[in-house]
Parts: sequence; structure tokens; C-alpha cells
Amino acid sequence: MLLLNKFPAWLSAFALLLLTQEPVSTSEVTACGVTVDPPANIEITDPGFLGYLSIHWTQPTSLQNLTGCTVRYQLRYYDTYEERWRSVRTVKLTYAAQFDLEKPIKVRILTVLKCACTKGTEVQGEEKEWVYTPEPTGVAESRIRDFHCVYYGKEYMECTWEAGPGQPPDSQHYLYYWHREMDETKECPEYFISSEGRSGCRFPRESLLEFSKFNLCINGSSPAGSLKMAYFSIEVQNHVKPTVVSSVHVSETDGELKLEWSPPSGQVPDHCLEYEVESSTTMENGKEKQEKIVLQNLEDTSFGIPRKAESQKTCFRIRSKVNMYCADGGFWSDWSQTKCTDKETQYIPKWRYLSLVVIGIAGVIILCLSLWTLKKISIKKINKKDALYTLYKEKVNKTMPTILSPILK
Ligand SMILES: *[C@@H]1O[C@H](CO)[C@@H](O)[C@H](O)[C@H]1NC(C)=O
Ligand SMILES: *[C@@H]1O[C@H](CO)[C@@H](O)[C@H](O)[C@H]1NC(C)=O
Repeated sequence: MLLLNKFPAWLSAFALLLLTQEPVSTSEVTACGVTVDPPANIEITDPGFLGYLSIHWTQPTSLQNLTGCTVRYQLRYYDTYEERWRSVRTVKLTYAAQFDLEKPIKVRILTVLKCACTKGTEVQGEEKEWVYTPEPTGVAESRIRDFHCVYYGKEYMECTWEAGPGQPPDSQHYLYYWHREMDETKECPEYFISSEGRSGCRFPRESLLEFSKFNLCINGSSPAGSLKMAYFSIEVQNHVKPTVVSSVHVSETDGELKLEWSPPSGQVPDHCLEYEVESSTTMENGKEKQEKIVLQNLEDTSFGIPRKAESQKTCFRIRSKVNMYCADGGFWSDWSQTKCTDKETQYIPKWRYLSLVVIGIAGVIILCLSLWTLKKISIKKINKKDALYTLYKEKVNKTMPTILSPILK
């Protein structure tokens, strides 16, 4: 079978190659007196959508005059991105699927017949496999490396790459992209330029489409010839990296530390976020204890944890990611600023309170005791004074005129 290439000339190498056809099962299946042949005239065409290929076929001639039957086709194709076979059944004569144009394209197809004469049971015909192996073209080792895309806060996406090890000097890279709402591929809207040339592309939100294949191709030219093509197919909602969580606030009430924050800015809906809280507690003995908790499905952006009895100070930082309810993957945001329990809310453990009370009581007792001793001493002194005075008075009374006695008294 010929792989027809109706569109771009740059893929002409494609059109020259034959699909190798191999019967998967060799036994011929018959039903209602006819052979259930696999579909005929299989064609795979490349409309130039970077791997989104169309598969066409026609009804097998053996089934042309059959009446009272439903004819369906079971198509299986190898998903090179997910590395597994995918299976579909259709009554149509066409199907479009995503392939990695750098890897062999494998398609298997059979006819499924259900007729009155088969008593309503399904008869599956012989399965045929078609394989097409693209021949790599371009300068050896010139394919780009380390390609990855990050969709920042669902506001813009950046895809970056490294030059291949064998890239000739003065090479120029080109990035093309396509999704199903585009009539044709487009070139990168804004390249990043590094000292080695183009190293990335920035896509505004408007150029992206979520929950759909987003196909990318990076090729290039050089004085030594064209560079090896690199193909990628992603779903942009799985590449989101939320912005940093802002305004983290820590407060303390009744043995509980409460953390409050504002959701990250950007276009990620609040219900699509999960958070990771990292706490680092400094203990009485000076040791630090770290803990990480992932919070999914939060109604509000606050979180309370019981305060540890031996803790002196607790610091928190938060990061966020798109949760499993909204995407199959994503990246953690950068960590927020670290916020700690501050001086006013610093926790004084119970035993410290107790020792304070004990010290207080002891202090009061000591004070009382000393006051009492002081008083006793002074009373003694007064007593002594009194005795002296009486003695003295006796003497004076004898020698002094009585007129002076009131002064001495
Ligand atoms: C189907 O019917 C047409 C016309 O009656 C005939 O020419 C043709 O050979 C038949 N095809 C098969 C597969 O029997
Ligand atoms: C790169 O691919 C695009 C189509 O996706 C094509 O138009 C362009 O000519 C190619 N460039 C090179 C240098 O191969």
C-alpha cells in the first residue's frame, strides 16, 4: 500500500516509502458463504499536522453484495507516545490518529461482520498489519535535546531545547506547532535567542488549546544540510506550573498554628490546585524537625496544625500544583516565602509556666521570710533601746531636773 502524501513537499521522502503489509492471522474467515476480508485500499495520508495522520480504506469487494449485515471495522494502531496499542471500532471508512513521525507507524485493521445469517453473532475477519518506518534524514546527531514545555500559571507557555551534539555551526532552528482548531501549522510566535541561537519559544495563551493534542516540530537548517526533525505531541494542561503562592500568614490560637495564604495569581482555577506545606520546627534542644503535607481538595486556603509541645519556633513555606481532578500532570510552583511564628505568638511550654509559678511562689515566700526576719531584728533593737532608755531614765531622773524629762522621753 502506498502512503499517500497529499500535502507538504518537505515530507516527500514519506510518499516514496511503501507500507509493509503483513497478515497477522493467516486463516481465512468465511461467513454466510463469503470470505470476511480485511478492508481494501488502505491509505495513510499526512495532511501536514505534525503527526496527526488520516487513515482511509474501502469496503472489501467480497462483502459488496451482502445484505442484512452490519459491517464494522476494528482499527488498532500503536501509540508511540504512550507505547501501547489503541483500539477503535467504526462503521466509517476513515479515522485520524496521532503518530510520532520519528518512529515506525503501525496500523492493524480487520472487518467485523454481524448478519442475520450469522445468527446475530459477530464474525471477525482476518487482521492485516501495515508498518511504515520513516527514514531519518538530516545531519547525524543534529536532533535537538532536552525539549520541555512549561505552561506558567496558564498564562503563557515556554518550550525550550538544547542543541544536538552534532549540530553544525551557523545552524538555525525553526519551531512549528499545530492543534485541531488550526487550519495549518504556524511558526513559533516568539523565539528565545541564546548565544547559540534559538533555544526556545514562548506561546501566548491565545495560541494554545487545552485537552487536545498540541503538536510541535523543531527542524533546522545549516550550511552542512538540514537538521534532524524532532516531533512532540503534548497536552498543554498537563504542563502547568502555577505562580508562587503569595501572602502567607501564620497565627496562633489555643495550641494550634494556623496558616493562611492567597492562591497563586494566574489563570488556574482555585479548585484545580493542591498545595504542599513544608514546616520546619526548631525544638527545645535546638534540633530542627521538617515535615511535608500535601493538601488536596481544599475549600479554603487555610490550614491548622497542633503546636508541638517542645517547639520553640515553626516556619512554613507553601507551593502549589494542578491537582489530579484537573490534569494528568503538572509542575510544582516555586516555594513561597518562608513565614515563622513571630515573637508575640511564640509558644511558652506548660512546664515553663509551672516553673515560673514555682519561682514566683518561692520568691514571695523568701520575701515574706526576709520581711519577718527584718521585723524581728528591728523589734529586738527597739527592745534594747527601750531597756537602755529605762536605765538611762532612772539615772537621769535622779540627777536631772524634772523639767527636762519631756525632751528625753
Ligand atoms: C455483486 O453483484 C454485482 C452485480 O450483480 C456483480 O457484478 C458482482 O460480481 C458481485 N460481486 C461479488 C463479490 O459477488
Ligand atoms: C521545517 O518544517 C516546516 C513544516 O513543519 C517546513 O515548512 C519548513 O520548511 C521546515 N524547515 C526546514 C529547514 O526543514
